[in-house]
Amino acid sequence: DLVLHITGARPNFPKAAPVIRALSAVGVNQRLVHTGQHYDDKMSAVFFRQLGLPRPDYDLGVGSGSHGRQTAALLTALEDLFVELQPAFAVVYGDVNSTLAAALVAAKLGVRLAHVEAGLRSFDMTMPEEVNRLVTDRLSDVLFATSPDAVAHLGNEGVDPGKIHLVGNPMIDTLLANLENFDAEAARTTHDLTGSYVVATLHRPGNVDDSADAQALVKTLHSVADQVQIILPLHPRGRASLEEAGLLAHPRLRVVDPLGYVEFLGLVRGADAVVTDSGGVQEETTMLGVPCLTLRPNTERPVTISHGTNRLVTREELPAVVAGVLATGRATTWTVPPLWDGQAGPRIAKILRDELMSEASAR
Ligand code: UD1
Ligand code: UDP
Repeated sequence: DLVLHITGARPNFPKAAPVIRALSAVGVNQRLVHTGQHYDDKMSAVFFRQLGLPRPDYDLGVGSGSHGRQTAALLTALEDLFVELQPAFAVVYGDVNSTLAAALVAAKLGVRLAHVEAGLRSFDMTMPEEVNRLVTDRLSDVLFATSPDAVAHLGNEGVDPGKIHLVGNPMIDTLLANLENFDAEAARTTHDLTGSYVVATLHRPGNVDDSADAQALVKTLHSVADQVQIILPLHPRGRASLEEAGLLAHPRLRVVDPLGYVEFLGLVRGADAVVTDSGGVQEETTMLGVPCLTLRPNTERPVTISHGTNRLVTREELPAVVAGVLATGRATTWTVPPLWDGQAGPRIAKILRDELMSEASAR
């Protein structure tokens, strides 16, 4: 009764780590697939070193490509592997193309599918992730939700309530397990930062792909850097367009390569504010109590606004909003979303083990 985990892109790794650990504690037979969607050391291997993830049992080396080509390559490689291994369950994470492809393969081969981080909705179909989330959830047999809004969305879409489990957030399990290693002082020293600073991460196609958007974004970042030092660990996706738009021209905007998980969250922990379009970073800043300014028109993670430290801002608003945050300091009134307590992995493991057992006894 094999459980097969499918990962491939940076945000998958901190979500999978606690689930794999908890399943291992209850003695479930499992193997880990890395599709190779992300492959640079700084986008992938560093997470395996830092998060105690086992070495992947299968490395499919699929790599980059357009959505169609990448998804096609993922489908081909994953189908072969599923046929060979005949898993009882496939477990997929989040909303990346590796998630979508594994969900399709599982559904077509009749392999039961569990989706970790089900039910998040931005209601913005221009986001590739929204398409991936909708299809994956529609195909899933077991849906693990991180927040009550996600449970409600799935209910509204007609998903059988018996399949939906509110379990908390495994990415937060990973954050809490590593909290004592997030060293803000070490981050300051490493990056030679004095005084206030803002951490930025930007990689959404809607912000960086188009050259007009990239130019407008760079102009905005430069006006923020006029007020405060910015450090930007830059995702490979935005590098070419943002650099072409003049990103590197401001002396107080420091661009660095993507950072390891522990180094990145050390830097975030000590920041006066974070400017981001990442999904996971909205959640992590909520836990760390660091003001998060999300450069997007929407979020699929509304609890980070209702409970946490997140707010949506436009490019036009950003410089003034940063000035306001620097003047007022950190909020003191935020709360932790329900069940973001570090126990999502064990909750998921128990439910999956029960599913495996009831399937075995039905045979
Ligand atoms: C993907 C996810 C996105 C997620 C992000 C997290 C999809 C559709 N998108 O976006 O939801 O927020 O990962 O980081 O799955 N590249 C490298 N090195 C790498 C990986 C990628 O240089 O290790 C470059 C390549 O030029 C590639 C580009 O980044 O074409 C985009 O990579 P891809 O995985 O297609 O999408 P992301 O933008 O990373
Ligand atoms: N992250 C990291 N180093 C960085 C930027 C992000 O370790 O330089 C981590 C971040 O803390 C979070 C995950 O990567 O755990 C989020 O991934 P990303 O923003 O790429 O994807 P998204 O969440 O937007 O899908």
